[in-house]
Amino acid sequence: MLEKLFHDHVATLASRAAAVLSATGFDGLVISSGKPFTYFADDQDAPFRRVAHFAHWTPLAGPSHLLVFTPGSKPKLVRHAPEDYWYEQAPLGSPFWASEFDITECGSAAKVWAQCPKGAKWAYIGDEPDAAKAAGIPESGLNPKTVVARLDWDRSLKTAYEVKCLEEATHRAALGHRAALTAFGNGASELEIHHAYVQECGCVDSELPYGSIVALDEKGAILHYEGKRTQHGGKVLLIDAGAPCRGYGSDITRTWCTPQAHPVFRQLVSDLDGLQRALCDGVKVGRPYLDLHIASHEGIADILHRNGVLKRGGASAVQDGLTRPFFPHGLGHFLGIQVHDVSGRQAAPEGGVLAPPAEHPYLRTTRTITAGQVFTIEPGIYFIPMLLRDLKSSKHQADVNWSLVDALIPMGGIRIEDNLVVTATGHRNLTRECLPD
Ligand code: GLY
Ligand code: MN
Ligand code: MN
Repeated sequence: MLEKLFHDHVATLASRAAAVLSATGFDGLVISSGKPFTYFADDQDAPFRRVAHFAHWTPLAGPSHLLVFTPGSKPKLVRHAPEDYWYEQAPLGSPFWASEFDITECGSAAKVWAQCPKGAKWAYIGDEPDAAKAAGIPESGLNPKTVVARLDWDRSLKTAYEVKCLEEATHRAALGHRAALTAFGNGASELEIHHAYVQECGCVDSELPYGSIVALDEKGAILHYEGKRTQHGGKVLLIDAGAPCRGYGSDITRTWCTPQAHPVFRQLVSDLDGLQRALCDGVKVGRPYLDLHIASHEGIADILHRNGVLKRGGASAVQDGLTRPFFPHGLGHFLGIQVHDVSGRQAAPEGGVLAPPAEHPYLRTTRTITAGQVFTIEPGIYFIPMLLRDLKSSKHQADVNWSLVDALIPMGGIRIEDNLVVTATGHRNLTRECLPD
């Protein structure tokens, strides 16, 4: 099953790459898996992440490999397999994907680069352009914008194999989210909840697609909160955490309350969950993603109005900017090899940028929805003191119930985030398939 999906995936990538090369005047493509990032004036490396274009072709882990593609030929993998007693050198074995490539093993990076094709019409993608140039790739072929743009665009249309990887990554994260909820119910600290999460996912932190956000109470208002406090007994948990699968990652957020959380906040969580589901139902081929983002602000205006936080709701509240301090990020982003996957704002396969409206600068997805895209839908309502201060000193300050806001600030924030695959007839919500409530 996986073999067949992967076979079809590589066939799709080969035909797409052939079209890209033909449109851009190149004969072939070399992609490197990347080199480790070493901290300044240190001998320690950051956790290694492969070049995403390489990861698109193969699950082969680790740095310094090359993928060589020529239209009409089986893709070639030049695998870096050094004799190095400092690190484990696991043999390749017979992974399910190996038969899709001609694989050559090399004992040093120099030998890997010696396998790089030379010629005026080769394109190279990766983070080692100097090595590629020294190996014979012309200057004009080093990460050419025309090629990169088309490959990025293609990456936004997931193959069935990629959807399978994202589905497994989502299922794996769902296990972690359930364990996190149990730990929270037992009064666990942020650090303990994080440990419960990774334990259940069966991986270490450096394998996660991004650093988990595990925020109790007021820390939920910090959009990218990185702390892991040891105090127990939070009233609200906002957990934003994903899991890996063969180079792909999920990105899921849930917000949970104890009975001790402020009753209005608990109602806001429930209402935002309802809005999030309605927004997911609105995912349709042909609809601009921006439409959904605007609809999310209108929904949030009504929720804030209904619960007494704002004194008015509807489109006029959105127009006057009343919702932006409470929901200051975009509704979602493409998801794939990268958590904020490429080309969400790309205007066309050849490139160009579809900028978001000035009042929504953080919206990462401005494309029209098409079948094959995978993205998140993640509305939020936050009580962020620095943004509320600005609202309080604006001409709209009388539109807000400030004593209620003050009571809600200690509750932090709410975000509910699912991973969706767009289909010809609607969508699949990968997250709700395994985390229904
Ligand atoms: N976890 C980062 C995000 O949701 O975009
Ligand atoms: Mn996200
Ligand atoms: Mn997230």
